[in-house]
Amino acid sequence: MANSDGVNLGFKLVGPGEQPDIEYHPNPAKYHTRTQLRLNADPNLPNKPLPSGFPARVEGPIVWEGKDWTDEKQWVYELSLAELKEIEDAVEYFKGLNIPLGHISPKTFPLPTFSQTLHSLSKELYSGRGFFVLRTLPVDNLSKLSTAISFAGISSHVGPLRGRQSGNGAVIAHIKDLRATHNLKEIGNAAYTTDAQVFHTDAGDLIALLALEVAAEGGTSRIASSWRVYNEIAETRPDLIGTLAEEWVLDSFGGNPPYSKRPLLFHEDGKIILQYSRRHFTGYLSQKRNPEIPAITEAQAEALDAIHYTAEKYSLALNFQKGDMQFINSLGLVHARDGFRDDEEHTRHLIRLWLRNEELAWKTPAALQHIWDKLYTLKPEEQNFPLEPEIRKKAGGVAK
Ligand SMILES: [Fe+2]
Repeated sequence: MANSDGVNLGFKLVGPGEQPDIEYHPNPAKYHTRTQLRLNADPNLPNKPLPSGFPARVEGPIVWEGKDWTDEKQWVYELSLAELKEIEDAVEYFKGLNIPLGHISPKTFPLPTFSQTLHSLSKELYSGRGFFVLRTLPVDNLSKLSTAISFAGISSHVGPLRGRQSGNGAVIAHIKDLRATHNLKEIGNAAYTTDAQVFHTDAGDLIALLALEVAAEGGTSRIASSWRVYNEIAETRPDLIGTLAEEWVLDSFGGNPPYSKRPLLFHEDGKIILQYSRRHFTGYLSQKRNPEIPAITEAQAEALDAIHYTAEKYSLALNFQKGDMQFINSLGLVHARDGFRDDEEHTRHLIRLWLRNEELAWKTPAALQHIWDKLYTLKPEEQNFPLEPEIRKKAGGVAK
């Protein structure tokens, strides 16, 4: 078979039980060929009804396209000198309490006036467009400890619950190319390389990212509205909505049990929720998809590409600068980042928190509840704040 460029793909659909020809990095020729072959085999696919309970379309401020945003002032909140002073004072106040970092909260990190703004911005995450950026934390003037306290402290006013990022109770994760300093065999996630990360969600409600340093070139952050993606797929290929709402086999990459099963897409309490990471179905680098576990289907392979390319079409590129803090709703948005190049002076390094604001939170689908129970139940004294990069160990079966 040749694609439209005349390239011989040697591509064919596989039978049930066989893993389709699909990799972590989406291939547009394979996507289009797979779609064509599936529609040839069953031209009736686009006429299938949506699964029960799923709407023809969803509306709301979180339904947007990249082109709707014309000026980053629409989502970038510049910290004033007075706000930076409140943050600095809160760091000193917290240090003065002499208690473990797991106790960082709106109470122990008081922001007298800025707190109200952060609460409004948290509402923007849960019931508005789903993202915002705070600019600029002066990271060059702060120690690693003060940086961590500032970031966790500010974030606690957005979402007081911090999620478990790793089996050892770490609530801070480092996103950095670790190939030169860490064991390559442990790297199964593009987050620890300079490689592009394809569209995906993280586990949990909210993601907060702080840029400690940006790359010499590339590394652009991209986000897209899962609700906008839903509307397009629901309209053009409702059968794929059915596929996304069915149970999938997620590789736990050496965990016990070796895989878990759950849907990727939910319609809960009037809200579309997408929770998935492509690598669980394709593998990545040292974490290959386990051939012993049930394969995904051709329909699932097509659905993965449909999400990726629809998200890409409607995505917004964020100009993520050093000292920026990016907050996104990981239930209603997908995100990706371009590949990048570091040099001696510019080594891309982000730190990340997973957050939840119980007061504003969306209803968690029952099939995700066990993941939320593992994510958001760390007691303050169980929380670790690694100040140096480490590769996350599986958080007790939490599939990111
Ligand atoms: Fe991510």
